[in-house]
Amino acid sequence: MAGLVKRYPDRVAVNGLDLEIPRGECFGLLGPNGAGKTTTLRLLLGLTTPSAGSITVLDHPIPAEARLARRRIGVVPQTDNLDPDFSVIENLTVYARYFGLAPHEVQTRIASLLDFAQLTDRARTNLRELSGGTKRRLTLIRALIHDPELIILDEPTTGLDPHARQHLWDRLGSLRAEGRTLILTTHYMEEAERLCDRVAIMDEGRIRSLGAPRELIEQLLPRFVLEIREPVPENLLLDPSCYTLERVGTLTLVYASRRDPLTDLASRLHLNRYIERPTNLEDCFLKLTGRELRE
Ligand SMILES: Nc1ncnc2c1ncn2[C@@H]1O[C@H](COP(=O)(O)OP(=O)(O)OP(=O)(O)O)[C@@H](O)[C@H]1O
Ligand SMILES: [Mg+2]
Repeated sequence: MAGLVKRYPDRVAVNGLDLEIPRGECFGLLGPNGAGKTTTLRLLLGLTTPSAGSITVLDHPIPAEARLARRRIGVVPQTDNLDPDFSVIENLTVYARYFGLAPHEVQTRIASLLDFAQLTDRARTNLRELSGGTKRRLTLIRALIHDPELIILDEPTTGLDPHARQHLWDRLGSLRAEGRTLILTTHYMEEAERLCDRVAIMDEGRIRSLGAPRELIEQLLPRFVLEIREPVPENLLLDPSCYTLERVGTLTLVYASRRDPLTDLASRLHLNRYIERPTNLEDCFLKLTGRELRE
């Protein structure tokens, strides 16, 4: 996509995106609420028309050939749109019909997908009896019914418990290992760090930073941080060549390129409530997108 813009009457949701995602990559779109992630995905799918710019997906110009492109794309929307009146297997069968798959082909495909998501014993269960996590797994395999090359997932693991999330990460990992391209949005920085080859941190419709998670962390922050969760004196007597300091509400963050000065500092201040850890993508996210709430 190049120069991509989406304007609504009262705001600009996507404000000049230039992005190229190679085949086989797992790409993460991160950003605070309202950053424009879902709008970007909808533009890629041709579900909304751009105000300016151009999009090509799997060699198809979008929106002109969006219908053709969508036959090769699997979609996991931000909110589940499964049919609550149907069973698991009926939901899959009905969805498969949209893609004109032959009935015998559909049956084998569904059986293997149910197995993939460990849902075989829930096949006849009515949707109303399923938990949120199970529905999310169903939405994922529904997206795979036509064996898509590209899978677009909008917050696939929001609201899942840690087990369900691990399970989904594992499944997404195997889809990636099969060579499929994945584009996902998430608010879980750990998820992005684990799954994604590259991430873009978006804010107010623009990309603030783009690269492999490790690269972003190294570019933006020193390697280690001491997170102090108790009041500390204003004048910490820090040596600015060792540390950078940031205060966030009642939290004090002290960054350094090595661990030792942080360990020393913690013992010098007789801290009780603190953790010393490597900096991560969440630190980058907060640094880039400010710390006030959006939307
Ligand atoms: N159909 C629409 N009409 C008007 N404004 C819209 C429409 N869809 C989205 N917006 C606005 O565009 C901005 C971006 O919305 P979008 O849904 O893309 O954000 P997001 O990054 O997906 O956020 P979240 O993390 O909360 O899902 C928001 O300010 C939103 O209110
Ligand atoms: Mg969204």
